[in-house]
Amino acid sequence: MCGIVGVLGDHEAAPILVEALKRLEYRGYDSAGIATINNGILDRRRAVGKLVNLSDLLVHEPLAGKAGIGHTRWATHGAPTVGNAHPHKAGPVAVVHNGIVENFRELRAEMAQKGIEFQTETDTETIALLAHHYITQGLSPRDAARETIARLEGAFALCFLFDGEDDLLIAARKGSPLAIGHGEGEMFVGSDAIALALMTDKITYLEEGDWAIVTRNSVEIRDAEDHQVHRPIKTVNIDSTRVEKGGHKHYMAKEISEQPTVMGEAIEHYITADGTEIILPDGGIDFTKFDRITMVACGTAYLACLTAKYWFEQVARLPVEVDVASEFRYREPPIPARTLALFVSQSGETADTLAALRYCQGKADMIVSVVNVPESSIARESDLALPILAGTEIGVASTKAFTCQLTVMASLMLKAAQTRGEISNDVLAKQLATLRTLPGLLSLAINTGPEVKAVSRKLAEAQDVLFLGRGAMFPLALEGALKLKEISYIHAEGYASGELKHGPIALIDKMMPVVVMAPRDTLFDKTVSNMQEVMARGGKVLLISDAQGIKEAGEGTWETLTMPQVDDLFAPILYAVPAQMLAYHTAIAKGTDVDQPRNLAKSVTVE
Ligand code: AGP
Repeated sequence: MCGIVGVLGDHEAAPILVEALKRLEYRGYDSAGIATINNGILDRRRAVGKLVNLSDLLVHEPLAGKAGIGHTRWATHGAPTVGNAHPHKAGPVAVVHNGIVENFRELRAEMAQKGIEFQTETDTETIALLAHHYITQGLSPRDAARETIARLEGAFALCFLFDGEDDLLIAARKGSPLAIGHGEGEMFVGSDAIALALMTDKITYLEEGDWAIVTRNSVEIRDAEDHQVHRPIKTVNIDSTRVEKGGHKHYMAKEISEQPTVMGEAIEHYITADGTEIILPDGGIDFTKFDRITMVACGTAYLACLTAKYWFEQVARLPVEVDVASEFRYREPPIPARTLALFVSQSGETADTLAALRYCQGKADMIVSVVNVPESSIARESDLALPILAGTEIGVASTKAFTCQLTVMASLMLKAAQTRGEISNDVLAKQLATLRTLPGLLSLAINTGPEVKAVSRKLAEAQDVLFLGRGAMFPLALEGALKLKEISYIHAEGYASGELKHGPIALIDKMMPVVVMAPRDTLFDKTVSNMQEVMARGGKVLLISDAQGIKEAGEGTWETLTMPQVDDLFAPILYAVPAQMLAYHTAIAKGTDVDQPRNLAKSVTVE
């Protein structure tokens, strides 16, 4: 998952490219580089590490030119070095690439037999060398690009720039998203509309297999069979205020604080003003037509599905299977008749989730997605795409997207329960009224930040942390562990409380904090028993509960965090906040990079 941009402008390209790359850094930040055509000559600058290093380099070694391409990298093949940084160049060809060329070794062997030498370990260099080879065979840049693209297997978004051609970009999309931005006598290419938002809101999304010949005043789009095709120009409103930090130190802090607002917007979007009905777009879902739901996702989105499983099964009485996409897509499970397949993805571009969706096409009776990017590949390949309306999420650790995913899936669950006659209209109205109280409760939870910060300073000293939860709080234990490990780098595991005595209790000693996420619900007493087992062995328990729970079971614990009292059913949505804030403040205490943790990227568009 890398970010790519291209500019054919009437201003210097370098600053535009760097600004666009800043908006794509969430896709990877191992290295960055740009190339421009300056007086007809192709030249480039590349730097290891974050974009700021490239910016510094450009101050000392400026790069002129009004046509250019740029790239921010999450390394797939080859270590993050300057030599492996994009743009890659071979003769008169420069290229930036997001994705993986799966047949690059075969192509390298073919070119090695022709005496072509390689300078890097990357699959991307192969693309540049192949295009260069075709040019040496007498093909034009356009035809050389076309022939090269046709030889590539795997997932990629590409943008080519050619020596001597300062009014030509060739862009291509197969498996990784790519957009074209239409300016006034200028044209732009980018991995997403966010990257181009400063230059234009007129966006054309390339479809699978499309490639495009771009000049300042024209865009010719051709499909995989090389037929010219038309793709619409859409006006895409990126709320740029939501792409800035809004006074917060980190995007993650801003996005945690936005949750009450964006959750409220999601609720208003799906629930009628009088609070009696749930509205789904485009004809909605007739839940009487399904005997089961298969949910597939990755990471935090997967944990949202695990949480929703408890809801759908307990309230709507609908069996739910939940799978991580990377396993589902290769296990190739049978999809019985009357199956609804549901895919959850903040970015809507996660390669494994998209592949799992494609596996279900033609097998499941209906494909529904719950996404934060309505124009994304997963949304566009669904029968029905349900937006979560969380707004742009930049922090690599997913926060507001998670609670908005849960909100939308809670609404879906209630719709299913009502449609299937499992709850009356009165109960529905009561549950919707309860759901409507969540944004206010999240605000109260967010206000416990200072208490969480104090506890986090102690948590930051741990090498290992265990998170425990029961029922629908078990996926929240997994989410708490994922949040902590991905931004503080502390090893953390989530476990079902009842599983503790089946092995993990062997880990318990005074060095390992055990975070128990337990609202005072019907399973609370069971969890307290597990807590006692931990404390009886010298374990340090951090109990996260409501006032009643703390009063009953807080004595003797290492630390406690008190959350507002919340209806049992929707407690997982509220308890996401302490999980997020615990991870955030612990990472701050450890001095790690909260918004761009090492080795990670926001959108995993490669498998
Ligand atoms: C969440 O904090 C992680 N950054 C990661 O697990 C993420 O949830 C996962 O990669 C799925 O991304 P998606 O929702 O965009 O598909």
